[in-house]
Amino acid sequence: SLPNKATIIEVGPRDGLQNEGKLVSTENKLEFIEALQGAGIEEMELTSFVSPKWVPQMADANEIVSAVQKTGRQFVLTPNEKGITSALQAGAKAVAVFVGVSDSFNKKNINKTTAESMEALKPLILKLKQDGLFVRACISTAFYCPFEGAIKPEATIELCRQFVEWGVDELSVADTIGMASPQESYALFNDLVEAFPDVLMTAHFHDTRKMALANIFAALQAGVSRFDSSAGGLGGCPFAPGATGNVATEDVVNMLHRMGIETGIDIDRLCEAIAKIEPHVSSSIATGMYTLYKNR
Ligand code: HMG
Ligand code: MG
Repeated sequence: SLPNKATIIEVGPRDGLQNEGKLVSTENKLEFIEALQGAGIEEMELTSFVSPKWVPQMADANEIVSAVQKTGRQFVLTPNEKGITSALQAGAKAVAVFVGVSDSFNKKNINKTTAESMEALKPLILKLKQDGLFVRACISTAFYCPFEGAIKPEATIELCRQFVEWGVDELSVADTIGMASPQESYALFNDLVEAFPDVLMTAHFHDTRKMALANIFAALQAGVSRFDSSAGGLGGCPFAPGATGNVATEDVVNMLHRMGIETGIDIDRLCEAIAKIEPHVSSSIATGMYTLYKNR
């Protein structure tokens, strides 16, 4: 049976903007984040502490985290010790680490094989947990890799198992290039929920092939009630060729509400937040609910 409540983890300020060619000012990002919080978003990825040479758009991570109100659960994405140290110094309380199931993707994204990444992450995660921080592990290319094609579900589950053994609080399992089908989504999340009943299980769908809402419905049926999404459907990983934006928060929230599933998010106010960021990004935003909002 379906849940009567679901949680949205808004990734717009991070996944949404990281691939944006036009440099968005810190001030405009902060306005966007504040408006999203005002719309009822309680969990969000604010930014990422990554190399500014690799991802110039996230170079102001320090200013963002220092300035933002830490209500609810505000994540920062970090790939390594340097990122974690800076994040904690800036006052982050919830950390998201990321790794790809596929070696070729992980190499392109973090310049390490998956095994090398995991070896480096283990002591860092154990320390974060010892210090009482919330740790989320983001699993990229959980279904398909832009370089290796289909990923075996067992490989994804095995990677998740290691994170669970190290004590992470949440797994965010990602269809990085928006290629999974609803059956594949149902099957993998069904296995994951069964294998790891004690961690928060989150689904992260990119909407490259417009299957993300169907995949969310499938994941709901498999017992998932946490979804990463991006206001305005912005986003994509710069190191995953062919990836486009995340599923749009406003369309996910609308679907959930229409199904009687509460989110605590106000769609009108969410659209107001999108209207604040739209002038600062390269392309116009034309998701379902935002188009209705603009045309009314
Ligand atoms: P590298 O070149 O192998 O690293 O990059 P390095 O250790 O040799 O360091 C190179 C330079 O970066 C040095 O500076 C470091 O100090 C600096 P230099 O001496 O040249 O001036 N550096 C850092 N600076 C700031 N913060 C840091 C940091 N670490 C090193 N944390 C590295 C390795 C991991 C740094 C690089 O590959 C990188 O930054 N990658 C980030 C890639 C990224 O952000 N991808 C997008 C996010 S993941 C995603 O979108 C997927 C997700 O949404 C789920 C899904 O959809 O699949 C989560
Ligand atoms: Mg992503």
